[in-house]
Amino acid sequence: MNKGFLVTFEGGEGCGKTTQIKKLAKLLQQRNIEYIVAKEPGATELGEEIRNILLHTNLDLSAKTELLLFCASRSRLIEKVVLPALETGKVVILDRYYDSTTAYEGYAGEVKLKDVETILKFTIGQGAQPDLTYLFDLDYEAGIERKLTDHQLENLDRFETKGKGYFEKVRHGYLEIAKKNKKRIVVVDASKSIEDVYEEVVKVFDERYAKKQNS
Ligand code: TYD
Repeated sequence: MNKGFLVTFEGGEGCGKTTQIKKLAKLLQQRNIEYIVAKEPGATELGEEIRNILLHTNLDLSAKTELLLFCASRSRLIEKVVLPALETGKVVILDRYYDSTTAYEGYAGEVKLKDVETILKFTIGQGAQPDLTYLFDLDYEAGIERKLTDHQLENLDRFETKGKGYFEKVRHGYLEIAKKNKKRIVVVDASKSIEDVYEEVVKVFDERYAKKQNS
């Protein structure tokens, strides 16, 4: 078994995962642990083209087409970035991964959960399962408030304009996914301060990473 370590960050809009990813990456750099960070959808040339279609065009995409585009981007990311990095023992940090698809397209969207699961199984295969997933849990109002202080309203992407009902379903979906994957997923209260959240992130990372290295 390779000693690479795949850690994924999940959560709704404005939950603060990107800030925590930056902080964790900096820590790994200080510790001389080799790592890469990738953001979904995107992170490869093909992925960035797909990201543009998904987030920034006005094409009227069906739920099924949308799901397949996320998975096409992910498949390329796994082949070109994730597996090669894990094989050389790196820590791979992903800003969103397949739980996003289950929460957004499955629980909140129009694709049946059973169909989402089938497509995800096909996309991910065996070798690219996360060792650890953080779910940053935050209510819609708090998240959108944070987003709007960073972003101008007119810069919102296609997903960000879907409204409160949609994001409440995303949040509920994430919490259901976490219940079903208690070993892998750690739910973090994202309403806490950046420093408190970071402390929890590092504590869990250290425990899980050491366990993998000693296994
Ligand atoms: P992005 O600007 O990267 O948002 P964030 O900073 O919140 O990660 O936009 C990605 C959007 O795509 C986000 O609204 C979630 C959505 N998404 C899905 O619906 N399904 C997926 O599988 C992924 C990876 C993202």
